[in-house]
Amino acid sequence: MIERIINAADKQADSEEPQIEVTLRPRDFNSYIGQDRLKNNLKLAIAAAKKRNEPLDHILLYGPPGLGKTTMASVIANEMNAQIRITSGPAVERPGDLASLLTNLSDNDILFIDEIHRLHRTVEEVLYTAMEDFKLDIMLGKGPSARSLRLDLPRFTIIGATTRTGSIAAPLRDRFGMVHRLDFYTPEQIEAIIKRASKILNIAIKPQAASALAQRSRLTPRIANRLLRRVRDYADINGDGIIDNDITRKALELLDIDELGLDPVDRLLLSTIIDNYRGGPVGVETLAAITAEERATIEDMIEPYLLQIGLLERTSRGRKVTPKAYTHLNKTNADHSNQSKLV
Ligand SMILES: Nc1ncnc2c1ncn2[C@@H]1O[C@H](COP(=O)(O)OP(=O)(O)OP(=O)(O)O)[C@@H](O)[C@H]1O
Ligand SMILES: [Mg+2]
Repeated sequence: MIERIINAADKQADSEEPQIEVTLRPRDFNSYIGQDRLKNNLKLAIAAAKKRNEPLDHILLYGPPGLGKTTMASVIANEMNAQIRITSGPAVERPGDLASLLTNLSDNDILFIDEIHRLHRTVEEVLYTAMEDFKLDIMLGKGPSARSLRLDLPRFTIIGATTRTGSIAAPLRDRFGMVHRLDFYTPEQIEAIIKRASKILNIAIKPQAASALAQRSRLTPRIANRLLRRVRDYADINGDGIIDNDITRKALELLDIDELGLDPVDRLLLSTIIDNYRGGPVGVETLAAITAEERATIEDMIEPYLLQIGLLERTSRGRKVTPKAYTHLNKTNADHSNQSKLV
């Protein structure tokens, strides 16, 4: 599998990244750029909860990786003046693990559960009553002598994050008072995020270069921040450290990222659909086979952006490339003739 620089997932080989992400993470609504609808809804909910002196309703955030779900969870905690504890679906292995997390919370605390779609079934069921009634049912003993015990829990708030709502069981989803999708950012918002990060990291970048970089960041803050650091490296080695248009263009050429932010994997995917499948429709399994990526990777990380910028289209029979994809890849219908050579 090809290591993708524009992979929005946060598990990168780059060891410097987690530290930098923390540095760059906005702490309040003012420094959190974009997602205005979500912010307005949250501001209202937070003001109301504070006024009634109640904990915030449970919140589910979903959307492609790198759009700022984890960041938003910590912003919410900050705006609520609440403590936040962080865990993730796969880390909570048994109901007992959840019990100890929950009983250690205080009133108004926030428990952030990342990748909540990966919670174990047995844990999920315990979470239902906890979220609804702030009670915890635990079983003591086994067999006929087993009895259940009901514990009172503090009035906490769960913030769940997931890249896939489809795989969240309906009963769990229904227990969230607020369910919000994070949208891709506009190029202008990404530009603002790049400028903010440059300031914090002390990087000199020309406004035009910030805009060029924003065009290639897949409308995703994490990728924008990552590309900014790669281009800075290039500027330090091949220039005077100042990022201008020329440096940006050359650095991205070296990374093999084109004007729309596509990398070789994206281009392979689109051109194979054109060359071998007459532009589609093809099933997602076929796309997985073409790129040697897992189906989940295609669905969570590659496809959302291609759909967003209108290079790919979802139909009832599968994915199709759009005329814009033909233009971008310099292809015409004539390229379909490759197919007759294959069969
Ligand atoms: N609205 C924003 N304004 C400025 N920077 C942002 C914003 N959203 C995200 N970022 C930056 O992008 C980085 C990635 O965001 P974050 O980790 O919150 O994404 P995520 O949605 O939780 O991703 P994943 O699904 O992989 O967990 C953050 O470290 C932060 O620096
Ligand atoms: Mg996250």
